[in-house]
Amino acid sequence: MSPPLLLAEGVTRRLPEGVVLVRDVTLSIGRGEFIAITGPSGSGKSSLLYLLGLLDRPSEGRIALEGREMETLSDPDLAAVRLARLGFVFQFHFLLPEFTALENVLIPIRRLGRLSRAEAEARALRLLAGLGLADAAGKLPEQLSGGMRQRVAIARALANAPLLLLADEPTGNLDTKNAAAVFDIFERLAREEGRSVVVVTHDAELARRATRRIHLVDGVVVSDESA
Ligand SMILES: Nc1ncnc2c1ncn2[C@@H]1O[C@H](COP(=O)(O)OP(=O)(O)OP(=O)(O)O)[C@@H](O)[C@H]1O
Ligand SMILES: [Mg+2]
Repeated sequence: MSPPLLLAEGVTRRLPEGVVLVRDVTLSIGRGEFIAITGPSGSGKSSLLYLLGLLDRPSEGRIALEGREMETLSDPDLAAVRLARLGFVFQFHFLLPEFTALENVLIPIRRLGRLSRAEAEARALRLLAGLGLADAAGKLPEQLSGGMRQRVAIARALANAPLLLLADEPTGNLDTKNAAAVFDIFERLAREEGRSVVVVTHDAELARRATRRIHLVDGVVVSDESA
């Protein structure tokens, strides 16, 4: 049997002063799962997402990606794993303002360095077109609406065909219609492309669209329910 995409076992994250952000979390993420993480403000949702996304390291416990232990990897090795395997979307789009939508999506593809110039450009254009952004490719972020900018950020997160997409309040700055469009994209990525999606959200209605919901209180998983 193949290992789960991601396994977190007994993961605790405490600050040097002893404050516990995430406490003894064990969870396994399979391919094609669409998971919502919910919980009150300050319950550790972002902290948990950063641990699952290899942006932070557990104080105790272990994380394995595709059966490979992450603990022993150096920071540059972890960065390489993130670049090749994971995609991130945040509340703020973090697009580079002086680059076009196309160039923003090309950056991670070029960093990974597996495609020729022409292949990279074709891939980036295909990703943008798939998210309804064919006409936005040559535009700067400031020339796009908030919803379009966030979709460009999603295209960038998908640049290297990640197995796992992690999103922290990706709809926090969007109106209802654009927020629903973002969740439509996540649903499609999971269902049709078999990617796994983990999204932190405050919005209970959006969370209901996920196929699994993990609820955190005070850094502890208090429920983990599949639809
Ligand atoms: N570097 C840090 N130093 C001190 N306290 C921190 C740090 N990072 C997080 N915290 C605290 O840890 C707790 C969990 O934070 P976290 O950001 O993970 O919560 P959250 O569920 O994402 O909250 P929100 O819904 O407001 O985004 C909070 O009480 C926060 O203030
Ligand atoms: Mg947060």
